Amino acid sequence: MKWQTRRFVDLPSTQSWLKQHAAELPEGTCIYARQQSAGQGRQTRTWHSAAGGLYFSFLLKPASLLPELPWALWWACLQTLEKNSGLTFQLKAPNDILWQKHKLAGMLVDSQIQGLEPQYYICGVGFNLNQIQIDISEQSACSLWQITKKIWSLESFLVSFQDHFAANYQLLTNSTAFERSLLLALGERKVQISYNKTNEILFKEYWHEYRAKR
Ligand code: BTN
Repeated sequence: MKWQTRRFVDLPSTQSWLKQHAAELPEGTCIYARQQSAGQGRQTRTWHSAAGGLYFSFLLKPASLLPELPWALWWACLQTLEKNSGLTFQLKAPNDILWQKHKLAGMLVDSQIQGLEPQYYICGVGFNLNQIQIDISEQSACSLWQITKKIWSLESFLVSFQDHFAANYQLLTNSTAFERSLLLALGERKVQISYNKTNEILFKEYWHEYRAKR
């Protein structure tokens, strides 16, 4: 996968910018903004996007549908956070990565599908990295700075994410290979199935239930 990253100082939302331009841009286009004035979260929520966090969206144009794409995205976010920080985070399926109940990253996938053919997928990712102030109680969020008291390189995080995601994307073309690798990496780890930490099961159990329902 060939990444082409475009950097902006300020955008309303990298996700909405890319949606407007998706038709004319190639797969691998990655739109980065130092801050966003109207960052979008899932389920019409707002994603607070002050300078210090890492905000980007990228474009995929695969030949066929990718039902496991959200998992590949989630896994790449986790790999990036854990490899760079050396910390182990709490998994909350299907979308969250937590540190003591607080969100470190958010991700969303928008798609345009015609019949059984994807026109495009747009993946949006926000990492809470160097924000010194995030109101932990209000947003249920925290930054890596708040945990480690270290300033992290946004550029290294972006490149690291792109490497991890590219490897996962390659695996996604063969869903059995993707599933095998995901379970090898995370199968024995615990995953929360609600914000209540007592609701924890092994990831492989969660995955088998999810697959049975699909
Ligand atoms: C969530 O609700 O957890 C998903 C948050 C996704 C935020 C990212 S930041 C970069 C991209 N641009 C947006 O407007 N949203 C996504």
